[in-house]
Amino acid sequence: MNELQNLSLNKLKMETPNKCDENIQKLKELFPQIVSEDKIDFDILKQLLSDTIVEADDERYRLDWVGKKASLLKANTPINKTLRPCEEESVDFENTKNLYIEGDNFEVLKILSESYLGKIKMIYIDPPYNTGKDFVYRDNFTQSKEEFESEIGLRDEEGNKLFRNTDSNGRFHSDWLSMMYERLLVSRDLLKDDGVILISIGDDEIDNLRKVCTQVYGENNFIAQLVWNCSTGGGIRPKHFSITHEYILVYSKNKNKLDELNATLSKEAVKQYKLSDDKGLYREKDFVFKNISTNINQKYEIKCPNGDIVKPKNGYIYRFIKETFIEAVNNDLVVFKKTNNGPLINLDGSQANWNIYIKKYLGDGKGSPVTSLPRDLVGIYNNGTSAVQNLFENKRVFENVKSVELIVYLIEIFLTNKNDTILDFFSGSSTTAHAVMQLNAQDGGNRKFIMVQLPELTDEKSEAYKAGYKTIAEIGKERIRRVGKKILGSEALASPKDGTKVPFPLDIGFRVLKVDTTNFKEVYYHPNKISQEQLEMFTTNIKEDRDDLDLLFGVMIDLGIELSLKITPKIIDDKKLYLVENSELIACFEDDITTKVIEEILAIKPYQVVLKDGCFANDNDKINAMQKLSTITTVSVI
Ligand SMILES: C[S@@+](CC[C@H](N)C(=O)[O-])C[C@H]1O[C@@H](n2cnc3c(N)ncnc32)[C@H](O)[C@@H]1O
Repeated sequence: MNELQNLSLNKLKMETPNKCDENIQKLKELFPQIVSEDKIDFDILKQLLSDTIVEADDERYRLDWVGKKASLLKANTPINKTLRPCEEESVDFENTKNLYIEGDNFEVLKILSESYLGKIKMIYIDPPYNTGKDFVYRDNFTQSKEEFESEIGLRDEEGNKLFRNTDSNGRFHSDWLSMMYERLLVSRDLLKDDGVILISIGDDEIDNLRKVCTQVYGENNFIAQLVWNCSTGGGIRPKHFSITHEYILVYSKNKNKLDELNATLSKEAVKQYKLSDDKGLYREKDFVFKNISTNINQKYEIKCPNGDIVKPKNGYIYRFIKETFIEAVNNDLVVFKKTNNGPLINLDGSQANWNIYIKKYLGDGKGSPVTSLPRDLVGIYNNGTSAVQNLFENKRVFENVKSVELIVYLIEIFLTNKNDTILDFFSGSSTTAHAVMQLNAQDGGNRKFIMVQLPELTDEKSEAYKAGYKTIAEIGKERIRRVGKKILGSEALASPKDGTKVPFPLDIGFRVLKVDTTNFKEVYYHPNKISQEQLEMFTTNIKEDRDDLDLLFGVMIDLGIELSLKITPKIIDDKKLYLVENSELIACFEDDITTKVIEEILAIKPYQVVLKDGCFANDNDKINAMQKLSTITTVSVI
């Protein structure tokens, strides 16, 4: 009877599939943000499919705030900005696979959305916690002249600005939520199917953030709410509690695709492995443990070394079923020990003289991660502060720095493929880049980073400003340069500045890219109204201050090509060609392209070719070239 009860048979439905359920399932997979209490939120779906704000006022369980739909709309609306490379601020521009992108992260994420679609394994962000003192970026913020003058310099050319989000702001939470929501929506698309996002956050917004993440990632993709014990207390005595921890929320893009997670064991945990044999250090774990379950599969009879047959007392069960136990015996993982007060009994019900243990080997020192992060491995804020001070002649150029150990620990859990990329789009002083380079140096990995940071001005009274860093982005870049030098133990970095072009054994370089307006002139005049002067302007639609590399990166963004790919210039017939790694692209922005250039392109057979509009001397040349090229590749013009 018991065995029958344990059998769970699959009952045939004997009816055709419910298409409605299937469709709902498909929609949920496509748009996790439309699911609320396991139902489709049609308002959100309508908003996702509309390019204007959709009104709705029905009641349902969901987090709403002022500006939510506008954010959804904004996340879906294209922008026409570009990224311009800055070779002089980069390190090893030619060979590096790392990126440092300066600009508002929403714009950066939108710009990267094709080139890095589904390519990022791990996103780590440490956004402003909305403590009432943070600067938050808001679009088209309107304010009085006095306010503007007092915060001058914090506004970008389109009037978007960083403003101090104080709790006297009537939209204190709404503004922050909108800022986060639109960035989370756009960044989700960059994640691989088995990708994860980790978000540091404090008490102020943990509740709201978790609800927003549920909307963006779906309830099923919640992985954990980690606790980082980031401080030891102290400081000015608060009236109530001294807060010594904060959180890291972890969500996956698709939990089913995420592999088993392993973390480095804490020193405390390692200390438990006191025994050793020829297979290494191990500890003995109870095989019989307290549990009121009556499952007979974990209550079978076992023969001990002296022939006694034992079984668990009432209220106890075994850790594994019989088959697994036999396997453990065969692998020499079972230890019998004599005792007269253990949890086993003989068949006649008397106290058994044995207890059973299972050997757990330390192995590579990894185990299942725990949600309360081990302090001895992840450090506290003070460690982060000293790491930066050590790099910057003991100056405190950045406040609230995460500890390098914390990020290394998290990377080791989630970036198990040592070639994967991590994105940090609130990168501050570049702790994440520091952690990536340090870990790669330790374990020979080849992990790559993409840092994004607003060129937020430093306070004139700050140590950073006095030390010459006018923006946080300058601090972030300089930190990576210094960490690189420190890791290599060499002052002689190969950068385009000193002319050395030898690739490093370890990638300590980074390509700097900066958000800017489009490379193209915006000219929308009625033909009748065009003056002679404007006509001359049309001879080139490219802005005068843009060079070939600007155009090349603009083209790579447009075609969805990764911006870290190696670029090799080649001169053919006095014309400069840009060959992008893996034959992804050949671009040439020259006039009067010759037959030799076309032959070179034909020989390489790139996936894409981009030329300048009007680059052929005459129509015949153009027809000939296009006929040949279109047989092997896709040709576009700018
Ligand atoms: C809390 S700090 C990150 C600190 C970082 N984890 C570290 O250890 O140095 C948040 C950073 O996000 C930046 N930030 C805020 N809004 C931004 C935006 N819209 N785009 C890019 N960066 C932004 C701020 O300038 C600040 O440097």
